[in-house]
Amino acid sequence: MRRIGILTGGGDAPGLNAVIRAVVHTAMNNFDVEVLGLRNGFDGLVEPEDVISLSHSKVRGILSHGGTILGAANRGNPFSRKTVVDGKEVISDMSAQALENIERLNLDSLIVVGGDGTLTISKALYDRGAPIVGVPKTIDNDMGGTDVTFGFNTAMRTATEALDKLHTTAESHSRAMILELMGRNAGWIALGAGLASGADAILIPEIPFDLEPVTNRFEERAQNGSNFNIISVAEGSHPKDGKQQFKNDDGLYYGRLGGIGQTIANELNLGSGIDSRCTVLGHLQRGGTPTPYDRWLATLYGAGATRLAMSGKYGMMVNLRGGDIGAISLTDAVEQTPKLVNPDGDLITAARGLGIVFGDE
Ligand code: F6P
Repeated sequence: MRRIGILTGGGDAPGLNAVIRAVVHTAMNNFDVEVLGLRNGFDGLVEPEDVISLSHSKVRGILSHGGTILGAANRGNPFSRKTVVDGKEVISDMSAQALENIERLNLDSLIVVGGDGTLTISKALYDRGAPIVGVPKTIDNDMGGTDVTFGFNTAMRTATEALDKLHTTAESHSRAMILELMGRNAGWIALGAGLASGADAILIPEIPFDLEPVTNRFEERAQNGSNFNIISVAEGSHPKDGKQQFKNDDGLYYGRLGGIGQTIANELNLGSGIDSRCTVLGHLQRGGTPTPYDRWLATLYGAGATRLAMSGKYGMMVNLRGGDIGAISLTDAVEQTPKLVNPDGDLITAARGLGIVFGDE
């Protein structure tokens, strides 16, 4: 019997379970194939002690659940894996072991669901002979080679709901309410949710900002009777003459973006006398039940990836182009990543036309 493996790498995103479910149903119903789930991203390929045979019953009821039944990990890169030898942490290349395990587990193909980091690793493993098919996932929507990643729509809904809620306090207290949103170096979530909720200012990494045009706009609004303001700010955005801000005090092994929202609040409070508060939405954006759109997209991606795997089209990533599910090589997809907001594109032009300020005016 043929066997497909599946793993979910990187940060979790709503819709991962929908992909797993679609892969299992498509593979078992149409190709009479066994599906093996590897746990915790690439960790489960390097050390596959805990693989799980995924049957129809194992994926029953998971379509609407956030997270991933397989676990995820944004460490565990097989090419530079942290291990402890004689009590000391060392970085080792375990890619050969990962490749051997694909054979040892008798996997004809491996479906890897992930974003930028995970699919870059997948491409490197494919270059060394691994029969990998990729599925693009990330709330950040910054994966190239596809119109949209699953997870983004749900994150945008969560962010929009938060901005809607902040509106009421902004109006009641005549304040500026700032919401700091995820997205790494891309402003898709802040822009999408900002547009959807009628934000007054949107600050994204693709458009370095000054606060002066922002406060000028706020003054104009005050003259027109609007004494409150909503700012949707991406965690990766930065002033024209400054750098991105990282949380360097959380003891983690890699730099995590964060802090720009509070910095802006401080500057507005102290510098401009605009009463301002910052809320950081954080991992709430990655949680919750996936929207119908994300369930739909994740399901189509899972079904498409299974068909690619079954027809031996390795080294490909399933994608969405203009409403159609298709495929692109992992090499091209990775090369086109990160996919950033075009500062001269339609979205920004439309937003500017509505009077939304980006801080570069
Ligand atoms: O890539 C998804 C993402 O949620 C980013 O938006 C964010 O910067 C990062 O992951 C947070 O990572 P972690 O879960 O490791 O804190």
